[in-house]
Amino acid sequence: MNEYFAARRALIDDYLAKLASRTGAPRPLAPPITRAMTSAGKRVRGILVLAAGESVGVKPEKLLDAAAAMELIHASSLVLDDLPAMDDAQLRRGAPTLHREFGEDLAILSAVALLNHSYGLVVKSHAALNPRQWPMAQVLKRVVDAVGWDGTIAGEAVDLHSEGSTLDFDTLEFIHSRKTGALFVAAAAIGAMMGNVSPAALGRIEVFAKNLGLAFQITDDVLDVTGSPEVLGKDVGKDAQRLTFVKLAGVDGARKLSEELVETSLAAIANLGPAAKPLRDLALLVRDRVS
Ligand code: IPE
Ligand code: IPE
Ligand code: MG
Ligand code: MG
Repeated sequence: MNEYFAARRALIDDYLAKLASRTGAPRPLAPPITRAMTSAGKRVRGILVLAAGESVGVKPEKLLDAAAAMELIHASSLVLDDLPAMDDAQLRRGAPTLHREFGEDLAILSAVALLNHSYGLVVKSHAALNPRQWPMAQVLKRVVDAVGWDGTIAGEAVDLHSEGSTLDFDTLEFIHSRKTGALFVAAAAIGAMMGNVSPAALGRIEVFAKNLGLAFQITDDVLDVTGSPEVLGKDVGKDAQRLTFVKLAGVDGARKLSEELVETSLAAIANLGPAAKPLRDLALLVRDRVS
């Protein structure tokens, strides 16, 4: 299982390095963009694209543009999330945050550039695979909706302005399913759509990804309390002023909830057959992650 993921991660890493070497961006922008694209992420969202594609018979090598697109969107969200006006983070992926290294101006411009470039990669991926069942507009809509004002941005905004909100499951589910879950759903959906997935199977894969994304962010809440910067490569204790599942349910309660959500995600794809094994293995990896 680990070999499978190491191989997928290496494919994505190599592809991101190739894209970064060819941006053609001018000098002030090229170094921060390159850093954001090639720093050591786990590539979970990219792997999710590949695994969802494989569940409907697409070879991972064919989905690298779509996988890279999801990683660019994710990288852009991290750069914004780390800014002084947001989480004011010092460390990301084991290195100083982008604004600390290159300045806030270039960090913001890099985030916008990464996000915008990602749409072009989704279009390129669709043009190459040309799935009969899913026109480009439908695929792209899933991506832009995931990062819009009812997606990542909504989750981040409510997360940052949660004073006055009640600490309850529904509020937390609203924040987490948007700031993190939405991109998981888009990643799984576009991977499967590129492989001409049936509408019924797509529905199951989206339920899988929604629950997995929520589980992933709950574990992030846990690791913010139990983890260390050395292992995580980022600041810890940053959630002190935020609404988190640890505050709602305690460390053990949050862990249990995350495990239950992973079970729910697995149940959603139970009848997808052996081809969905990469998705199942990815869910177990998310369940057991320590960084
Ligand atoms: C961190 O995501 C931010 C969250 C949404 C929890 P990851 O834990 O996937 O970060 P990288 O990509 O591996 O650095
Ligand atoms: C990150 O949320 C979510 C997005 C960037 C969209 P957090 O602020 O909880 O994640 P970390 O701990 O900084 O990675
Ligand atoms: Mg944050
Ligand atoms: Mg943060």
